[in-house]
Amino acid sequence: MVEIAPSMLGADFGDMRRAAELVAPESGYLHMDVMDGHFVPNLTMGSDLVKSLKGIAPLDVHLMITDPCDFIDDFCEAGADIISVHIEANKPKEALQLIKSKNIKAGIALNPSTPKEAIEDVVSEADMILVMSVEPGYCGQSFHENAIDRVKEYREKYPDKLIEVDGGVSTSNSEKLIQAGADILVAGSAVFNSEDPIQTIKQMKQG
Ligand code: DX5
Ligand code: ZN
Repeated sequence: MVEIAPSMLGADFGDMRRAAELVAPESGYLHMDVMDGHFVPNLTMGSDLVKSLKGIAPLDVHLMITDPCDFIDDFCEAGADIISVHIEANKPKEALQLIKSKNIKAGIALNPSTPKEAIEDVVSEADMILVMSVEPGYCGQSFHENAIDRVKEYREKYPDKLIEVDGGVSTSNSEKLIQAGADILVAGSAVFNSEDPIQTIKQMKQG
């Protein structure tokens, strides 16, 4: 069964806890987008904000930062259940090994413009492949259709890995992504701009 991970970047930062508690009953994870203003041209949240949501639902931390190895200890201590790092960042293999050494799940993320083969050398270290369906940096962008083929190919090639899709996911593409073999769908604006976030999550789960 697919899990939905609402992206808290799409929530009201002034009322993050309430937003998290609202969606938690139907959420497999809360997706936390960490950006350093260098790997992507935006700054978002640090480990203290992640820690403030610990215990509401499992925490799925997506690091869009240039040097993930420098911050893995902090996010682990904050209570992350999954940490993903980008193949385009520095030392992705070392980062995955460091995450695994903490006994939590490790994800390898790749951008839509990065060749799908780019993860081959490191994927054996990962529990999850995070297929980006927008260029990272912001909520509310439109979905790159090539993500669907990527999910299908990775599902066949790596049957034991979790596959997560992130960016522009909504009720209009959730069915195709589930059929392609996705395990976790991340959704920011589709959930938090919805009049009824819980109903939207339920619809996305049904495909
Ligand atoms: C993009 C982030 C996504 C984003 C999703 O860099 O990794 O998680 O917040 O937001 P939507 O669903 O609005 O594209
Ligand atoms: Zn993300």
